[in-house]
Amino acid sequence: MTLALCTGESRDVRPRVRRLAAGLAAAAALALPTVGAQTLHRFADADLALGEKLIAEHACAACHQRKMGGDGSAIYRPKGRINTPGAMRGMVDYCSVELKLQLFPEEVTAIAAVLQRDHYRFPAANPGAAKP
Ligand code: HEC
Repeated sequence: MTLALCTGESRDVRPRVRRLAAGLAAAAALALPTVGAQTLHRFADADLALGEKLIAEHACAACHQRKMGGDGSAIYRPKGRINTPGAMRGMVDYCSVELKLQLFPEEVTAIAAVLQRDHYRFPAANPGAAKP
């Protein structure tokens, strides 16, 4: 999984800057092992490409836009009522039933994984945290 942000940036920066950034990232990873991309929650075996396709096919954003304006992504509120990976996947499941999309469980997971990557970015559960 590569962040679009990172790939877009790294193409233009000079190697020296890139090395420095890599060094800083490595240092940060060492100093703060709980902060970084790896510590985000990941839905096991999720097919991200399938999730992106389903989100586009079912016009999720179009309806969210009508309600929220902008690109509609303001509807995804990681700190709102839907505040764990499990609850978020449950919401996707609920919506798909409501919308009569008849998705397979792995399709629901694929959509949830894309929303996680692009919007919610829930951290991976750690021992001290509340259970999802
Ligand atoms: C017909 C309109 C409509 C469509 C189509 C739609 N949604 Fe929604 N969705 C909503 C509305 C309205 C809400 C806000 C509910 C609320 O007020 O909490 C929502 C909320 C959500 C939330 C919870 C947001 C949060 O953090 O509280 C998720 C997740 C979500 N939708 C996913 C999807 C996905 C995935 C699809 C496409 C498969 C989809 N929705 C299609 C209307 C729609």
